[in-house]
Amino acid sequence: MHFQLTEEHKMIVQAARDFARQQCLPGVIERDEHQKFPREQVIQLAELGFMGLMVDPAYGGAGMDTISYVLAMEEISKIDASVSVCMSVNNSLVCWGLEAYGNEDQKQKYLVPLAQGRKDGDLYIGAFLLSEPEAGSDATSQRTTAEDKGDHYLLNGTKNWITNGGSASVYLVMAQTDPSKGSKGITTFIVEKNWPGVTVGAKENKMGIRASDTHSILFNDVKVPKENIIGEVGFGFTFAMKTLAGGRIGIAAQALGIASGAYELALEYSKQRKAFGKEIMNHQAIQFKLADMATKVEAARLLCLKSAWEKDNGIDYTLSSSMAKVYASEAAMWISTEAVQVHGGYGYVKEYHVERLMRDAKITQIYEGTSEVQRIVIGRQILK
Ligand code: CAA
Repeated sequence: MHFQLTEEHKMIVQAARDFARQQCLPGVIERDEHQKFPREQVIQLAELGFMGLMVDPAYGGAGMDTISYVLAMEEISKIDASVSVCMSVNNSLVCWGLEAYGNEDQKQKYLVPLAQGRKDGDLYIGAFLLSEPEAGSDATSQRTTAEDKGDHYLLNGTKNWITNGGSASVYLVMAQTDPSKGSKGITTFIVEKNWPGVTVGAKENKMGIRASDTHSILFNDVKVPKENIIGEVGFGFTFAMKTLAGGRIGIAAQALGIASGAYELALEYSKQRKAFGKEIMNHQAIQFKLADMATKVEAARLLCLKSAWEKDNGIDYTLSSSMAKVYASEAAMWISTEAVQVHGGYGYVKEYHVERLMRDAKITQIYEGTSEVQRIVIGRQILK
């Protein structure tokens, strides 16, 4: 066992760090305040190959490993978690799902442009539509239906809190095709946003990751051709669970980035700010906070990298990805809150960035499975 990054991994870290500092930092406060989708930044991410980072180059991807993905997600999330969630959903939930379970035609038609993040010169990204107004954690209780009409399915229902909802061109939609079969009656469909009957609801006015593009999506008698089913009829819930296991590595890495970003800001501030005649880093009350922050960041990073390593080596990562996500997201919430505390009054205003990181941290305990859902998954895995 060794804990050193390869030269290639170090280059990924540097590329992601440069991108985050040069392209994301300018304007991050304004984009957050005005909920402005970071379109230019996502286009640049696509140019770096980061929108299909793990996809096989034969399908337009960069062919990198999951460790690289974690490293890049951490660096970008230190600065702008609204950019990184867009990258995470496109990589983990959309591209991975299509690459693992889509057929050759679906890969050529959808995966290639999604992995490149571009089609005909325009931004081309995807979204993952599982959550509904009454089916969040209880994901088997889908109300969206898809009725077999011979050569196509007719899709009806509403999906909620969809990341990339307004900017995506392609949706992977989970819907009930046979309610009598419970989780085995759910099917995944590839749906294009511009098809008749698809409506994008208003953008959600959120606490954090405010620049990310979160909408409800409504389907009213949308005709979906049968060739757009992923896998087979009834495979949708397994598809969602398998895909989310990898998604949880991405969100864990996002939480890790928020945590390490907040820690680094607190560390830097504590070296400069003086109180009671000395830099506040020399007060034990602050040192203890910094020590706990550094320890939690390191633990979160190791959990993320272990899960990524398992995924890259064909080992079941259901348990490790949930452990990484629950730990990293709770560390991010705690560290960012303490980073605000270290900054005192300055931490409570936007210019110092830590209040945004604190607001951004909260969602990592909620999306792609709440902390409570992660504990269900962990509990079932360790008790089986
Ligand atoms: N792999 C394969 N199969 C799985 C599985 C997995 N990881 N997990 C469950 N299954 C199977 C089960 O074996 C079971 O099959 P059988 O009936 O044959 O036994 C079937 O699926 C149903 O599973 P459960 O009985 O365990 O289902 P449950 O109702 O108890 O729910 C749950 C389990 C873990 C709570 C699950 O519903 C869950 O993960 N919920 C959270 C959903 C979620 O993460 N939503 C996030 C939305 S996406 C998002 O946030 C994206 C974004 O925009 C950022």
